[in-house]
Amino acid sequence: MAKDFDTMEDSNRASNPSIHDVSDPARRVWLQGGLAAFAGAAFGPLMTGCATAGARTGAPLLGFKGIPASAADRITVPDGYVATVIAAWGEPIGVPGQMPAWREDASASAADQAVQMGMHHDGIHFFPLAGSSTRGLLTMNHEYTDDGLLHADGMATWSAEKVRKAQAAHGIAVIEVERRGDAWTMVRPSPYARRITATTPFAIGGPAGGHALMKTAADPAGRTALGTFNNCASGKTPWGTYLSGEENFNGYFALGDAKPDAHQQRWGLRKTAFYRWNEHDERFDAAKHPNEFNRFGWIVEVDPMDPKSTPVKRTALGRAVHEGAWVAVTRDGRAVVYSGEDSRFEYIYKFVSRDRIAPAGNGLTQAQANRELLDHGTLYVARFDADGTGRWMPLVHGTGPLTGAKGFADQGEVLIKARQASDLLGATKMDRPEWLAIDQQAREVYCTLTNNTARGAKGQPGVDAANPRADNAMGQIIRWKEGAAAGGDFDATTMRWDHLVLAGDPANERADAKGNIKGDIFGSPDGLMLDARGVLWVQTDASATQLNKGEYARIGNNQMLAFDRGTGEVRRFLTGPVNCEITGATLTPDGTTMFINVQHPGETPSDRSDPAEPNKFSKWPSGGRPRSATVVIRRLDGGVIGA
Ligand code: FEO
Ligand code: CA
Ligand code: CA
Repeated sequence: MAKDFDTMEDSNRASNPSIHDVSDPARRVWLQGGLAAFAGAAFGPLMTGCATAGARTGAPLLGFKGIPASAADRITVPDGYVATVIAAWGEPIGVPGQMPAWREDASASAADQAVQMGMHHDGIHFFPLAGSSTRGLLTMNHEYTDDGLLHADGMATWSAEKVRKAQAAHGIAVIEVERRGDAWTMVRPSPYARRITATTPFAIGGPAGGHALMKTAADPAGRTALGTFNNCASGKTPWGTYLSGEENFNGYFALGDAKPDAHQQRWGLRKTAFYRWNEHDERFDAAKHPNEFNRFGWIVEVDPMDPKSTPVKRTALGRAVHEGAWVAVTRDGRAVVYSGEDSRFEYIYKFVSRDRIAPAGNGLTQAQANRELLDHGTLYVARFDADGTGRWMPLVHGTGPLTGAKGFADQGEVLIKARQASDLLGATKMDRPEWLAIDQQAREVYCTLTNNTARGAKGQPGVDAANPRADNAMGQIIRWKEGAAAGGDFDATTMRWDHLVLAGDPANERADAKGNIKGDIFGSPDGLMLDARGVLWVQTDASATQLNKGEYARIGNNQMLAFDRGTGEVRRFLTGPVNCEITGATLTPDGTTMFINVQHPGETPSDRSDPAEPNKFSKWPSGGRPRSATVVIRRLDGGVIGA
């Protein structure tokens, strides 16, 4: 059992004798020719940006040398850095007595998969154990499955066992990790090891808990839903829990020949389900169980430190095709949770808690003391006006058009139908809001708007100030400061906004695809992380159909870049293997280890691999079946990442 998962870690060691990524040609050049030769050759032009930033500030925020775009099937990091792989799909997570090894032929059973790393890693957070930067829990999402890769014969046959395996490959993982010397490893077995899957019981908190629209035959109380899936981005709360967004949940339900009602239509319920669970699990048949559909699309909260805790769907934060959720704190100690809906022409939200964040005490951890914090408060949706100001409009039953006469019986229905409520309020239809990042001190918020090629198309909304490009293949990052003037707080109902950057190659021939990037070019921004030093890390997710072609020809594989908000410079830090996306980033408290996720290496344009040729596009990370995995990034000198 241990042999297989050791093999992958050993293969890293074999090619990286001192755990350093010498498979990276940049690193090899450094070893062979020394720093001067390296800087003068491949990276000469990029050094100019570094020198400029240094001259302007005296102490550059970005202390690494940028790397070129890459179409290679590997991870590349800057000179002086090393990247290693842990916790790939199919590795046993370390449940005591249940550690089935990875099988290269994908013959693991559904029961095995339920105690292994899921597929398609996404948002990730490091939760230190006792404040440590060398030992902690990694909690991460497993967004979806490529069923062509997940099963030995792909989808050639389809069975209840395959549906169970796919459901077990979704959800969230909690694993224990430890640094010994320079190398991070999974601690197995671990009492913290936990998988939350598409069948794990969740409590339904907030105003939609127990609502008539949430009741099903299996759960007549409407207070317990089974599972979470399509979990995309993640946030960590100040009270020590993990927030995860249920994103494209509509692809799991099938309506068959039944006629969709207006609500089902607005939420994208289709005749057939891409994931085909409905063929062997009746609750995904939306004609038979219409309310099951309403029990997904929520932000879920997990306490990774308490493996026995029941995760909760936080309905007060509204229902959406949720990318994720991120928490700010008002000056008087209330939580403000920002979230966005990653679909074309959907919205950005914030929730302001009624109560203040409670301290730990009376025998409760802080997570336990705040068990109901996110169940009470006010949800708002954003409107970005052409003059650079904006408004947060309350989604409160009885306010404005949100009344029974307009189809909202109560607050629960407003939240379940947050799209329809936001439509009525005239919220701004955005270019696919993905991750957010919060500058707590500056009361400033950033949001990636990844792309929207339907903007301006026939019958679709045209450009507006916040979403200024038609056929927007490149995306942008919007930012706002809370309040009408300086000194505003996160609970403000007004804001001032602008764009941090319009992505895309400034030299692009098509005017609508030209970006205004200063530095290294990228498109389709998705993941975001603001680190303690003020570096805004940006990760990209252009699709397999876009990468390295046309307007993306000079941009290379998906990547991670660092943004110096002071100088406006963007510098490329990491490039990923073929047809992956780079997503999720978290640092140890001392800033010397960064964990990121590589999702769907070798993705096919259809999202379904051919089981006869599973590694047609990528063999990352171990030379065989492509596997999503966590990448651990360290500096050779053990210093702070990015500095
Ligand atoms: Fe799962 Fe919006 O990316
Ligand atoms: Ca994403
Ligand atoms: Ca994306």
